[in-house]
Amino acid sequence: MRQNIVAGNWKMNNTLEEGVTLAKEVNEILKANKPNCQVVLGAPFIHLTEVVKTVDAELVGVAAQNCADKASGAYTGEISAPMVKSTGAQYVILGHSERRAYYGETNAILKEKTDLALANGLTPIFCIGEVLEEREAGKHFDVVKEQIEEALFHLSAEEFGKVVLAYEPVWAIGTGKTASPEQAQEIHAFIRQTLANKYGAEVANDTSILYGGSCKPSNAKELFANPDVDGGLIGGASLKAEDFHGIIAAF
Ligand code: PGA
Repeated sequence: MRQNIVAGNWKMNNTLEEGVTLAKEVNEILKANKPNCQVVLGAPFIHLTEVVKTVDAELVGVAAQNCADKASGAYTGEISAPMVKSTGAQYVILGHSERRAYYGETNAILKEKTDLALANGLTPIFCIGEVLEEREAGKHFDVVKEQIEEALFHLSAEEFGKVVLAYEPVWAIGTGKTASPEQAQEIHAFIRQTLANKYGAEVANDTSILYGGSCKPSNAKELFANPDVDGGLIGGASLKAEDFHGIIAAF
C-alpha cells in the first residue's frame, strides 16, 4: 500500500546553522510524538550532510530540492544525483514550479533528472501543477497529464513504482490560497486514473500523490482526509517546527 508522506521544502531559506537547528527541533518533536506518516525534510544542498546526521533515520527522511540533468563533468555550480546520494539523502524534489518557471526546467530536462535520480537510488518527489490561467481555462487536467507523460511515462512500471508525485497548483504556492479539498481530490483522482491507464491499477494505487500549496496545520486534516491525497509538500509552514508538526499530526 502507498505511504502517507509529509515533506518539507525549505527552499532557499536558513543558514546551515539554522537548518540544523530546525532539523533538530523537528526530530525532537517526532521522537516525543511518533508520526503516523513518513516525514521528509527538503533542505538546501549544503545542509544535507549535516541534516542527515542530525535526524533519526527511522523518523525523518532527507531530500535535496533539485539535482543536475548530467551525472558528472564540467557543469560549474551544479550538483549531481550521485553527489546528493553521497550525503545520505534519500529523496530529491524534482520539477518544482519555481524550478520550471525561474530556471527553465522543461519536461525533457526533468526526464533526464528523474532517470539520474532513480539510477542513483534516490526517490524523486516529482512536482506537477498548473498556473492560474490554465486552471481558469479548464486546462489543468491536460497540463498535469502532459507533465507526467513527457517526464515520467518512459519509465517502466517497476521504475515508476519508486516515484512520489506532488500535485502543486502554482496559484496556491506561497499565496495563502489553497485548493479546496474537493479541487484537490478531483485532480488527484484524475492523476491516479492517468497512472492506472498507463501502468495498471496496482501501480496507481501504490503511488503516493502529495498535495502542495499553502498547506498549513489548519487545513491539512481536511486535505489529507481525501482518499487520493496521500500527504503534503510543505513550503512556508515547514520552516517552523511547530507548524510543520501540526501538519504531520493531521495523520
Ligand atoms: P507553500 O509552498 O506551502 O509555501 O505554498 C509549497 C511548495 O512550493 O512546495
